[in-house]
Amino acid sequence: MQLTILRPDDWHLHLRDGQALNAVVPHTAHRFGRAVVMPNLKPPVTTVEAARLYRERILAARPSGSHFEPLMTLYLTDATNAAEIKRAKASGFVHAVKYYPAGATTNSDAGVTGLERAYDALAALEEHDLPLLVHGETTDPTVDIFDREAVFIDRVMKPVCDRFPRLRIVFEHVTTRDAVDFVRSAGRRIGATITPQHLLLNRNALFQGGIRPHNYCLPVLKRELHRQALVEAAISGSPQFFLGTDSAPHARHTKETTCGCAGIYSAHAGIELYAEAFEAAGALDKLEGFASMFGADFYGLPRNTDSITLIRESWSPPASYGFGDHELVPFRAGETIAWSLRDDTQG
Ligand code: DOR
Ligand code: ZN
Repeated sequence: MQLTILRPDDWHLHLRDGQALNAVVPHTAHRFGRAVVMPNLKPPVTTVEAARLYRERILAARPSGSHFEPLMTLYLTDATNAAEIKRAKASGFVHAVKYYPAGATTNSDAGVTGLERAYDALAALEEHDLPLLVHGETTDPTVDIFDREAVFIDRVMKPVCDRFPRLRIVFEHVTTRDAVDFVRSAGRRIGATITPQHLLLNRNALFQGGIRPHNYCLPVLKRELHRQALVEAAISGSPQFFLGTDSAPHARHTKETTCGCAGIYSAHAGIELYAEAFEAAGALDKLEGFASMFGADFYGLPRNTDSITLIRESWSPPASYGFGDHELVPFRAGETIAWSLRDDTQG
């Protein structure tokens, strides 16, 4: 069995920097036409000039002949000002601004401490019609980690939507039925990305026969009813839900340790894993909209015009990939993935 779809894009991706780029950029470039690149580097990408230089480094790490296009983002801080947002829009290569609540996840220390402090920047985003990308988890340590997304909706998402009625927002990596319901009710100016791991796994995968650091990401995997709600949203044909892998590489030793990093690396199979999830739901015919159309439409970019072909042939990712001087353990390492990308359709 084969499936040909317009070339997909990844609307949420971590590429890191330096030597790591050479390890991970080719995986994404083989499959996806474009990717929205997260700005949570050390130090974070807070200016258009830093985004320009980062973009150049990513382009240099593409396989030869690749047309892969990184879509850059800025990292919102308490100090982000309206002039920088204006420059971002004018640049043509910065496509969004990312909001991390300070301390919510990897390299988020520089994030916004209270969203009120960023209201001028949000007003500028609204004025220039640049989307705000949101890591939607409260950082209140008294809130149970499995409830942090639902609490964030009430405490932050709803007030921001009310205060900025024309601001377009992507609720990144939604993980709960609560988030799916919120996005649906909020209408077309709100979009949401969904990762492959949140479609394929529930929280049991964190503890299967022992603790599984390679299944740990943020927001953390949730219970089965939430996974089912995400699958329903992804296959619904609603243009509000689109593909964003949140592929987040970390060296093996930083995950297999007493306090391991959050992040699952999935770029090596970034479209194949979604094909599995959609097939399991009996909805392969809905994959193309989710993967190749709705994200581009939301961002106001043209859809890709070339295509890829997926074959229903299983393969096994290696135990690890090289990652600079370290190793990177990919999703499903040493196990199987049911779908393959046909070689002659690699980008
Ligand atoms: O699991 C995650 N990893 N979640 C995030 O929000 C950040 C990401 C990373 O950068 O590693
Ligand atoms: Zn992310």
